[in-house]
Order: sequence, then structure tokens, then C-alpha cells
Amino acid sequence: MSAMSQRVAGFGTTVFVEINNLAQQHKAVNLGQGAPDFDGPPEVLRAAVEAVNSALNQYAPGIGMPAVRQAIATHAERFYDQKLNPDTEVLVTAGATEGVFAAILGLTDPGDEAIVFEPVYDTYVPNMVMAGVTPRYVPLRGDNWEFDPDELAKAFNSRTRAIIINTPHNPTGKVFSRDELRAIAELCHKHDVVAITDEVYEHILYDDAMHTRLATLPGMHERTLTISSLGKTFSVTGWKVGWAMGPTALVNAVNQAHQFITYAVASPLQAAAAAALSLPLSFFENLQASYQSRRDQIVDVLKKVGFKVFKPAGSFFVMIDWRGVAPKHVENDMQFAQWLIRDVSVACIPASPFYQESDKHLGKHFARFAVCKKDETLALAAERLLQLGMR
Ligand SMILES: Cc1ncc(COP(=O)(O)O)c(C=O)c1O
Repeated sequence: MSAMSQRVAGFGTTVFVEINNLAQQHKAVNLGQGAPDFDGPPEVLRAAVEAVNSALNQYAPGIGMPAVRQAIATHAERFYDQKLNPDTEVLVTAGATEGVFAAILGLTDPGDEAIVFEPVYDTYVPNMVMAGVTPRYVPLRGDNWEFDPDELAKAFNSRTRAIIINTPHNPTGKVFSRDELRAIAELCHKHDVVAITDEVYEHILYDDAMHTRLATLPGMHERTLTISSLGKTFSVTGWKVGWAMGPTALVNAVNQAHQFITYAVASPLQAAAAAALSLPLSFFENLQASYQSRRDQIVDVLKKVGFKVFKPAGSFFVMIDWRGVAPKHVENDMQFAQWLIRDVSVACIPASPFYQESDKHLGKHFARFAVCKKDETLALAAERLLQLGMR
């Protein structure tokens, strides 16, 4: 008897495990995984500790504690003028990851199709497979990671139930423009499709990039489920506190699944989430300024080394094309990442795992570096990478 179900047997192991293991083995500076190597704001950490010490340690309501649902709604109004009823239009989830999975389970049926942009964040498609939903891929191409509007239009058909939009985008750093989102909205209306947005990098924006929330475009509140989380904005990726927002009908559907996946999210961390979301504007401005400086440093180093750099408009990530820098024996992105760890002692993530099997060639020459690291981590990575430029 095979222990593993057919449902999950094809998933393999995530590339992050492989890269992290190799990075540890070679004592590489790890610019792979998108987790900060610094801590969150002290007042947020304190709020969690205080909650633990104040006996806030039993189950929270399944949909989330009232104070955090209120804080999520207030944050949405403060930054996007999006008005949400905290009692019926906000659901607290175990990170954005659970939010997306519960959304797919709650809003689609087996045999439906859902559209994703490629390269695609690595949980969406396995989520769909587990839900019996068929993914339809629309590639992002070129220096600005644009989609072909005709290709997108063709991806919609009578079986399409949902489209997932991740902006700012992992792994490319693309921030979908208002015009692009308008085109997506038009197709959602035309085909009566629900949009699920993953906006976990909503506050990590560079230069003059603006984050547009699809749900705030005309007529899109009714058909958009917006998902975000605490981890990236507040440097607490290990807390796994997220939320899904939208019209009552969509949020109820997601909660139907959520109630039987996690039921409720860690109470003390929810209390801390309420404190985090209520931080003054200066916190969000300082966050953006510190990320701008990190991104600029890394982009500068990668360019000096000779890589083609795709300058990100948002997110934790910088994509590069490694051709012209890697030695001749390196033939694909996985070999590039392995070579960089072994020979240069810097870890990055190969891009092809973000593509479906038949499109792997589209990511073959790309690799992703994470910028969410301390100054000293970035300085050490820079020192090692720049030596490469001098070889
Ligand atoms: C696009 C995207 N969505 C979701 C997540 C995970 O979010 P959470 O930790 O809140 O589940 C990540 C983390 O890397 C991400 O890059």
C-alpha cells in the first residue's frame, strides 16, 4: 500500500527546503527565502507577550477577535478608502496561505478552472489540485512582466470560476498597474468570475510605485476577495496571521472552509495584530524607506556583478537573468543556484519552480534574490558577489 495519497504524491519537495539545506551546508549568506532576518517592531512583540500574560490564551471566535477585525477594517479604510463591515466582511486566517486555500475551497467546485499569472507563487496551484480545480496559466513576460491581454482573455471560459492576482508580485516584484487591473476587472465582469487577490506585500513599494487594490475598482467590491497578512509588513512571518476581506457572501463562503481547517487563529497573536495594524503612518513610511535602501543596495551590487536585473516595483524580491555571469557549465537556473551557493557562498532561489512543467523554459535563466535582510547580511552578500564580478 502506498502511504501517500494520489492527491499530494505529485507535489514533490519545495525548492526552499533544498536551497536552505545546501545553503546551510556551505555556510552561504541566504538571500533565498522571503523571511526577514530581523525582528518585528518592539511594541508589536510586546503586545503579543502582554496578551499571553493576560490570559488571552483560549480559542478566539472562528472569524477572528472583534478588535483585530475592527483593526483590519480600519487599516483598509485608512490606506485604500475601502469601507468594510468588520462583523461580516472580514475573516482572520492562519496567514495569507490559509486564506488563499480556504478561498479556493470555499469559492470553487471540483472541475472548475482558476486563472493564475506565471511565474506563480508556489502554494496556489497545489491548493487548486487539492480542491480538484484546474489551473490556467497566463505568462508574464518581458522587462516589465506584462501579460498579453488577448492571452488573458482566452484563458477565460465557461468553466472559469476564479482568478488569483498577487500584487506586489512574488517572485518578479511587479506591481500590477491600475490599467492592468481594469482589464482584469472587465473580464471578471464579462465572465462572472471571482477575483482573489494576494496583497501580502502591499506596503513594500519602491520609487513611486502605487499599490492599487482591485476591490476598490468600480463594481469590483462584490466580486473580489482581498487577502493579506501580518508577516511581511511587520517582519513576523512566523506568526501566520492573515485575513480575507470582501462582501459578506464571499467571506461566508471562505469561512465555511476555514471553520473546518483551523477553526480559529492564535489569540495572543491576533491581539498583537490589532496593535500592529494601528501603528502610526510613520511606521509604514519608515518601513518603505528602509526597504527602498535595501533594494537599491542589492540592485546596485547585482548590476555591478554583470547580471541583467529586473528592478522590482514592490515585494521582497529582485529577479535577475544570470546568463553572461555564470560559468559555461551552468545550464539552467537550478544549476545556477547550486553553483552560486558552492562557489560564491550566496543563496538565491531558482525561478523555474514558479512555472508549470511545460513553461519551465521561461524561467530557466532567472533567479530570485530576497532583500529582506539586515544591513550586515546584505553587506556580506555584497562582498561575496562583488568578488565574482572581479573574477
Ligand atoms: C505572494 C505570497 N503570498 C503569501 C505568502 C505567505 O503569507 P503568510 O505567511 O501570511 O501565509 C507569501 C510568503 O512568502 C507570499 O510571497
